[in-house]
Amino acid sequence: MSGMKKFYQMNLEERRETLKEETGCTDEDIRVLTGIEGLDPETADRMVENVIGTYALPVGIARNFVVNGKSYAVPMVIEEPSVVAAASNGARMAKAGGGFFSEADPSHMIGQIQIVGIEDLSAAKDQICQNKDEILRIASESCPNLLKRGGGPVDIEVREIPNSQAGPMLVVHLIMDVCDVMGANLIDTALESIAPFIESISGGTVRLRILSNLADRRLARARCSIPVSILGSQQFGGEETAERMLEAAAFAEADPYRAVTHNKGIMNGIDAVLLATGNDWRAVEAGAHAWAARDGQIRPLSHWKRNPLTGNLEGSIELPMAVGIVGGATRVHPGAAAAIRLMGVQNVQEFAGVAAAVGLAQNLAALKALSTEGIQRGHMSLHAKQMAVAAGAQGETADRIAAQMIRENRISASYAAELAAREKENSHA
Ligand code: MEV
Repeated sequence: MSGMKKFYQMNLEERRETLKEETGCTDEDIRVLTGIEGLDPETADRMVENVIGTYALPVGIARNFVVNGKSYAVPMVIEEPSVVAAASNGARMAKAGGGFFSEADPSHMIGQIQIVGIEDLSAAKDQICQNKDEILRIASESCPNLLKRGGGPVDIEVREIPNSQAGPMLVVHLIMDVCDVMGANLIDTALESIAPFIESISGGTVRLRILSNLADRRLARARCSIPVSILGSQQFGGEETAERMLEAAAFAEADPYRAVTHNKGIMNGIDAVLLATGNDWRAVEAGAHAWAARDGQIRPLSHWKRNPLTGNLEGSIELPMAVGIVGGATRVHPGAAAAIRLMGVQNVQEFAGVAAAVGLAQNLAALKALSTEGIQRGHMSLHAKQMAVAAGAQGETADRIAAQMIRENRISASYAAELAAREKENSHA
C-alpha cells in the first residue's frame, strides 16, 4: 500500500517504515530520531545550564538526494513550512543531471590569540615565527587523542594589526586539523596551552584565545548540472524557466538586499541538517555570511550559469563548513547521533559535502519557484494545514479543513476556526 504512495502522501507510520526499508536504519534509531525516545530531561540537564525540559521541532526527511553517486536520506529539523519540500524538489531536479557532486577541505580550524602591549610588532612576529616548531609541539601535547586519529596542529601564522581602536596588536593563528569533530574545544584548549609560551617570547600580553568562526580553510563545495528540459512546467517551457532563474541569480550577484535573502534560503536547508545532527548551526551561519561578504559586498553563496556546450543550467556553492559527526552534541543527543547514522556518512568531509548540496538544492528550488509561479502557492497549502491544527483540528479533519481553504482560496486563521467549529458540530450531530 505505502509502496504506491509518494513519501509526502504517506502517514507518519508509513514514512517511518519506508525509511527503515530504504536505509536499513533500526527501530531504535527511528524512535530516538522522531523524539519518541529522544533527548530526556536528565541528559538535557547535562548539556546546558538551568534546564527545565526539552523542546521539540518537526523532523522531516529530504528525498531524492544523490551526492557523488550515493543516495542519502537527509534528516532536517526545522519549524518553517516548505523547506523540506523545496530541498527534495531541488534534489529531484539535480538528480536528472546525475545528482550533486561535492567535496570538502580537510578539517583545518583556525584559532586566534590576541597579543596587546607590543612595542615592535614585526620583531615580535619574527620571534613567534622562529619558534613555530616549539609552539606546534606544545599545542600537540594538548591533544594526544587527536594525534592518534591523524589530526593535530598544522601551522601557525602571525598577523599584524597596527591600528586597532585599542592600539597595535598582534594576532597569532593556530591552524589545527580537528578531523571528524567541529573542533571548538580542541582548538580552544590548544590555544590556552600555547598562550603562556607565546606571551613570553612576544614581549606583550595575551588577551583572547578563541577559535575563529571564519573557517575559510574548511570549505565545502557542491555543484549540479540540470538539463533545462526538466525545468519546464505548464506555465513556462524549460528554456524560459532557466533564463528566468538566471535573472534571479544575477539579481543576487548584483544586489545585497537580494543576496541576503538568497543566502537565507540556502541556510534554511543547511541549518536544518545541522540542527538534526546536533551541529553548531550558529557557527556555520556566522562563517557563511562573512564568507559571502569577503569582497566587501555580500554576495550569493551559490552561482548559476548555462553551460555553453550542453545548455544545462549549472549551479555551484562554496562556503565554510565547520561541522562534526562525532563529539559535542552529536555524542550526547540520541536523535543527533541517529540522524548521522541515518545519513550513513563515513567522515566529516562527506557530511559537509551533503550539507552544501542541501543548501544548493534549496536555492535551486527557491530560484525556480520565485522566478515562475512565486512561492506562496506551495507555502500557503502548508500554512493552511498549520492553521487548521492551530484551530484545534487533528489528523484527517485538519487535512480536510486545509484542503477546503486551499480550494476556496480562503486561507485564514478565522476561516480555519469557523471550519473547525463546523466539523465539531457535525461530529456531535
Ligand atoms: C524563505 O525562508 C526563503 C526564500 O526567501 C529564499 C529565497 O528568496 O531565495 C524563499
